[in-house]
Amino acid sequence: MGIMSAPIDPTTTTAWTELSTIRDTFSPDLRAWFADDPTRVERLSLPVADLHVDLSKNLVTDEIVAALVRLAEQTGVAERYASMLTGAHINTTEDRAVLHTALRRPAGASPALVVDGQDIDHDVHEVLDALSAFADRVRAGDWLGVTGKKVTHVVNIGIGGSDLGPVMVHEALKPYADAGIEARFVSNIDPTDIAQKTADLDPETTLFIVASKTFTTLETLTNARLAREWLWAGLAASGAIGDDDKSRTDAVAHHFAAVSTALDKVADFGIDTKNAFGFWDWVGGRYSVDSAIGLSLAITLGPDRFRELLTGFHAVDEHARTTPLAQNVPVMMGLLNVWYTNFLGAQSHAVLPYAQQLSRFPAYLQQLTMESNGKSVRWDGTPVTTDTGEIFWGEPGTNGQHAFYQLIHQGTRLIPADFIAFANPAYPLQDGDRDVHGLFLANFLAQTKALAFGKTAEEVEAEGTTGALVAARTFSGNRPTTSIFAPALTPAVLGQLIALYEHITFTQGTIWGINSFDQWGVELGKQLALQIAPAIDGDADAIDAQDASTKALLAYYAAHRA
Ligand code: F6P
Repeated sequence: MGIMSAPIDPTTTTAWTELSTIRDTFSPDLRAWFADDPTRVERLSLPVADLHVDLSKNLVTDEIVAALVRLAEQTGVAERYASMLTGAHINTTEDRAVLHTALRRPAGASPALVVDGQDIDHDVHEVLDALSAFADRVRAGDWLGVTGKKVTHVVNIGIGGSDLGPVMVHEALKPYADAGIEARFVSNIDPTDIAQKTADLDPETTLFIVASKTFTTLETLTNARLAREWLWAGLAASGAIGDDDKSRTDAVAHHFAAVSTALDKVADFGIDTKNAFGFWDWVGGRYSVDSAIGLSLAITLGPDRFRELLTGFHAVDEHARTTPLAQNVPVMMGLLNVWYTNFLGAQSHAVLPYAQQLSRFPAYLQQLTMESNGKSVRWDGTPVTTDTGEIFWGEPGTNGQHAFYQLIHQGTRLIPADFIAFANPAYPLQDGDRDVHGLFLANFLAQTKALAFGKTAEEVEAEGTTGALVAARTFSGNRPTTSIFAPALTPAVLGQLIALYEHITFTQGTIWGINSFDQWGVELGKQLALQIAPAIDGDADAIDAQDASTKALLAYYAAHRA
């Protein structure tokens, strides 16, 4: 399959026809499937690196699995993945290679990866080494602020992929943050964000990291300027610096670092490029947490743990590259999502980590999956031929159980759900004789069991319930879940989880024929915000140029602003 050639329309494959035929008479029955088939769980439990992935509670038979695998074959999933790994420009609308997998290749990997004349392995490891050295200096207290004090707080300023990945990993791996340095993350252009996150900080001990692939993003540059003003004002107020240019430049040199693909723009902003770390246009924002965008993580966790995270990613990259499709976990999970989305009518997909540390994982996955696969045209510009891009959402268990699980258990919609759990907790606490983590895991197991097998009217009646209450207390079951279990939430395991979802996203995008690596859909709003900004300031012409609804909202704003 030529990469620039028209994508294969999945609906024209024989596998699609097979799946459509199966769907027409499909009547899932997990109770019977489990009862009749003692090897179902074994056949549908797949390992990927340290993760144990149980697919058995999904609404599939062997016949469906076989047809799904044929769909992957007939749409060229493995071939396109192989092309991606070698640097083909599969991001067609931006004419770019897609090489986030190169960010986690081990040093000295053979054969070396040379793309468009660049020694990618060399470039990646050069930055990784520089970033590690910088992180070590900050951690050891060798990096000093302008008044000679050590860094106690790192504030990452970025948005989208320059924020969600670092925040999510930071929350997930907090138990490993051992340098006594606290990280904070400012993303929103709502001034509340930076105001609250800096309110109790000391400018003399704060290091800002401006993280922006393009270094043009309105939110990030606005927040970076606000941070710079805050730094200057705070240092001047305590008499630490004067208000002359030299003092100010010096202050920025000691309190600002940057991560970007546009190092010229970093210099224009006034950040010393000695404190700047680059990456490349072949790393998409939502695929960049394992690039220098992870600088805040390298500082709080240490470079060694950051590298462990990368080894986790790489293990799954290798699994995805070398494992036959039927045992290839990201391929199988992507295929299941296609089955639910395109054949069974699911519109959303829940991600339910049984780990408070993964509280930001669903938000991270929202950008990864929805910015990647929320598309209506294929990579050659023609319309898609199927629905694409399900809505990802979720919250950690058990909190979600007391909020939205009702709808998953008894609502009218099909909501496939991924449950993620760890055998060992970060904080092993006892409630009397009871290991609390064990109780937590009992909830994970109970929920997936209830969703799969439900509770029949007879079972409800057998408990003494009668009348209308019987229906209300009945659970249909056959609500699909995937269980992802790992020994513990270590840096390597987290890398594995992220890479797993990257490749699931890739699988779906390939089957749908879409370029999962551009995001033109966010551009229009950005342009309009810049056009509307003068109208907000009261510019009559700009107000006049707006539609009636926007004008009315501007008038409301003008009438109510203090
Ligand atoms: O939301 C659009 C987007 O381009 C994302 O893809 C990206 O992660 C984010 O903005 C931030 O972009 P940058 O890193 O260039 O500031």
